[in-house]
Amino acid sequence: MYVSTIDNSQLESLPQVELRGQITLVTTRRQVQKAVEYLSMQPVIGFDTETKPRFSAGRMHMPALLQLSDDSRSFLIHLKKTGLPEELTQLLSDPAIIKAGAAVKDDITGLQRYAPFTPAGFVDLQDMAQEYGIVEKSVKKLSAIVLGKRVSKSQQITNWEAYPLSEAQARYAATDAYVCYRIYKELSQHEDEKKSPRQRMYEEVLANAASLLQDEPDLVANMANVCALIKESFKFWWVGFYRVDDKGRQLVLGPFQGPVACTRIPYGKGVCGSSWKQSKTLIVPDVEKFPGHIACSSRSRSEIVVPLFDQRGNVQAVLDIDSEKLNTFDKTDRKYLEQLAGLFKNIY
Ligand code: SME
Repeated sequence: MYVSTIDNSQLESLPQVELRGQITLVTTRRQVQKAVEYLSMQPVIGFDTETKPRFSAGRMHMPALLQLSDDSRSFLIHLKKTGLPEELTQLLSDPAIIKAGAAVKDDITGLQRYAPFTPAGFVDLQDMAQEYGIVEKSVKKLSAIVLGKRVSKSQQITNWEAYPLSEAQARYAATDAYVCYRIYKELSQHEDEKKSPRQRMYEEVLANAASLLQDEPDLVANMANVCALIKESFKFWWVGFYRVDDKGRQLVLGPFQGPVACTRIPYGKGVCGSSWKQSKTLIVPDVEKFPGHIACSSRSRSEIVVPLFDQRGNVQAVLDIDSEKLNTFDKTDRKYLEQLAGLFKNIY
């Protein structure tokens, strides 16, 4: 299973990705033909472009380099010398040849400034990774998460229009396309690890909540933002926290999103009080069938209540989510909401 996010500090300890294939610089039409002869036999190609950076406002430069790689070869096409001849536009319009890259739309728009073509067969790794619950977008982080490898970005801001490119530039450019190829291959071999839209939504909520809580120690502020995150993402009927009061006998309403709710719930009463008493998550598929359910609203039909523990394992609050539909919550919700509740441990 892939993690959804990764810290910059975790990247440093990873081994650097090693480009295995041979690098070929392409500067003439004849060389383009030879490159395309090889590439059009491949079902999957890693794809990237490099553009000379601009240090002032104004229109972007045209892309200087088009990189196309697979496991054994990398072609660096010097667009300023070759332009975008028909062999290449055909390759870029061929739906049967997968071109895998990150944020490919921008690269394609850049290439279309050389010659018009209708792109086909492109896979954006940012979208693909999202299907696996990966929230990160940069090739650097995708490589770390999917391949467990680090890519160096030291050459990123160099003059890509230079000819010949330095050895370091050529290696960097080829590696970027090669890494895209590897990420695509790796992900497509693990189709079984794809996540449902609901799981993906939770991954995103968790990543956002983790970064919000990391920077803010205030309990009320964090509870308020977590409610907003869940409510905005899933549009549940009611999302809120109840906190164990000072005397430890009742739950008292905390930050929430949704209609006005009951203010106090005694220990052991209703779903919330029972979750507190039992120190565990309760999933109620039909509230009418839960003895002692407290109906704050007649529109609530099913719910999940997740306890928040302090460092000593005592319940300090519960997270209550209500739905207008029956059977809304299952073990997926439990898994992610328990992780979310776990984020509060550091605050208590
Ligand atoms: N239904 C909850 C009470 C809280 S509200 O629904 C917002 C319960 O039985 O504990």
